[in-house]
Amino acid sequence: MTEGHATAGTLELRAPAKVNLTLRILGRLPSGFHELETLFQAIDLCDDLRVWRTGDSEVSLHVVGADVGPTEDNLVYRAVQAFRRRSGVREGVGLELTKRIPAGGGLGGGSSDAGATLRALDALFPGRVSRDGLHDLAAGLGSDVPFFIGPEGLKVGRGRGELLRAIAPLPTAHLVLGLPPVHVATGPAFGALARTRAERRGPLPRPLFEERPLPTTWAEVAAVAVNDFEEPVSAAHPEVALALAALRATDPLFALLSGSGGTVFGVYPDAGAAEVARGEAARRCPSARFECVATLSTLPGLNARGPRP
Ligand code: C5P
Repeated sequence: MTEGHATAGTLELRAPAKVNLTLRILGRLPSGFHELETLFQAIDLCDDLRVWRTGDSEVSLHVVGADVGPTEDNLVYRAVQAFRRRSGVREGVGLELTKRIPAGGGLGGGSSDAGATLRALDALFPGRVSRDGLHDLAAGLGSDVPFFIGPEGLKVGRGRGELLRAIAPLPTAHLVLGLPPVHVATGPAFGALARTRAERRGPLPRPLFEERPLPTTWAEVAAVAVNDFEEPVSAAHPEVALALAALRATDPLFALLSGSGGTVFGVYPDAGAAEVARGEAARRCPSARFECVATLSTLPGLNARGPRP
């Protein structure tokens, strides 16, 4: 893909990562997926996506910054194909994706790219797919994708993650992400959790927010911040346990695994405290990379470069 294609009418989007401020796995759904309850929070670590109409029927995707495998398997490409099937749009699009969110880390990078793609296609071909239709397409692409349709940056997720309810944004918080050198596949992480639970035969967790109000402060989030994957994923990947211990030694409001990991994060009241914690965690755990990010109250909007098509 040459730069020359991306001129007038190009949409530019930032596709943000997420962390899970809580993640409870409640049981198995008839579909075989797991029912969960989570709080999705968008953060300002973003991939960049540019999308333009080609005027012919070609769909092309160029990925910069990471080797993400064959184009046909990329969630962005699959999002375009799903949108075209649903909408009947025959015209092609060109896409350029610049990856910054690490893959396989529990940060929802691929899901966010797919959500951003659907938002862009909805803007380029307005009204061709309804809002509910976009949500269905998103859910068909992956459990986390509907969250990235936005626009709110904080939502409760139920079902397999696709049943969403926006809640009032929390004040901006400063996070330190800990990125250990591991790649955790989500499917096997669910399997490991199921095996641990089968051995223990304890009761399944109940959804937190049916019994208590939704959090309105970070102290209230800290009181409910649990991730059911933390134990099995830390046991399978000692690097994750080390990065988490390093963050917990820096006096965060709380620290947690995100999604099925391997990314961990600590939450701090201000940017200065987060920067100090980042340095300290990096000294304690040299095998992981630590990065400061902030929470987002809404997903970044679309920018049109040149006249809209
Ligand atoms: O939906 P997504 O592609 O993110 O899911 C990846 C895998 O994780 C699924 O194939 C399934 O094995 C597991 N999963 C699950 N329950 C969920 C979400 C994912 O069992 N709620």
